[in-house]
Amino acid sequence: MKLFYDRASMRHWVAEQHQSGHRIGLAPTMGNLHSGHLRLLDVLRPHADFRVVSIFVNPTQFGPHEDFDRYPRTLERDLEQLSAVGCEAVFVPSVEEMYPYGRDPLTRVVVRDLENRLCGAFRPGHFQGVATVVSKLFHLVQPDIACFGEKDWQQLAVLRAMVRDLDMPVEILGCPTEREPDGLAMSSRNQYLSPEERQRAAILNRTLQQSATAIRGGLRDFRMLESSAMGLLQKSGFDMEYFSIADAETLEPAEEQTLQIRLLAAGRLGQTRLIDNRPVEDAP
Ligand code: PAF
Repeated sequence: MKLFYDRASMRHWVAEQHQSGHRIGLAPTMGNLHSGHLRLLDVLRPHADFRVVSIFVNPTQFGPHEDFDRYPRTLERDLEQLSAVGCEAVFVPSVEEMYPYGRDPLTRVVVRDLENRLCGAFRPGHFQGVATVVSKLFHLVQPDIACFGEKDWQQLAVLRAMVRDLDMPVEILGCPTEREPDGLAMSSRNQYLSPEERQRAAILNRTLQQSATAIRGGLRDFRMLESSAMGLLQKSGFDMEYFSIADAETLEPAEEQTLQIRLLAAGRLGQTRLIDNRPVEDAP
């Protein structure tokens, strides 16, 4: 497995691969890898000759009071896992390497509207940080295809819009969310939960599923469904940010005629912020 720490050597290797006609796949991550991340590599396998995983805890997507400093960093174990599953290359830049002119670059990628909805309303600047670092990674690694987890559905929607609007020559694939046996979406942040919070956390997915089932069964009063789901989750100990039944692409509130509906939710259990989402289609 190739390991690159700086932009120049990453670019050089990628140029060589492209010259030999190889297709490059990229899975951007912030490390602390779990099986959800490893699944990104499985999804990329049939589409790429070489798969690159980037590991970079991006400071510009964390708010001033968020968990940048305590975000789990487990590089040695991450590299062992990637090597064990046959990943071809890993890009591990430092903050100085990615932001040599400072952490507040003059240029930012702004995906209007989409970046301010849902999570964006509670994490100002977050999606600008994500879109900016992902576009930098796309320029450095020049992937033909890149894969992101569906767990952060809004991130996927923002990045799809960015690639479309800026004519970036990269195909974006979504990777289905990996779940624990009780349905909790896998996330590096789950490890912040106390044992008691961990037990309660699966209610988030269950409520999304129940609401999706109700829609599948014909219920169309989406706003009523949203507020009863919010109420239920609040009662279960969540400090809810939103529970939204939305258009899967624009993330605007779904209307009766909306074709592709996505249910999305975010809330805090104690100190831990959890997000999850579900389509209507796979509800029982
Ligand atoms: O989803 C993540 O882990 C991050 O937001 C990403 C896409 C790696 C950008 O820093």
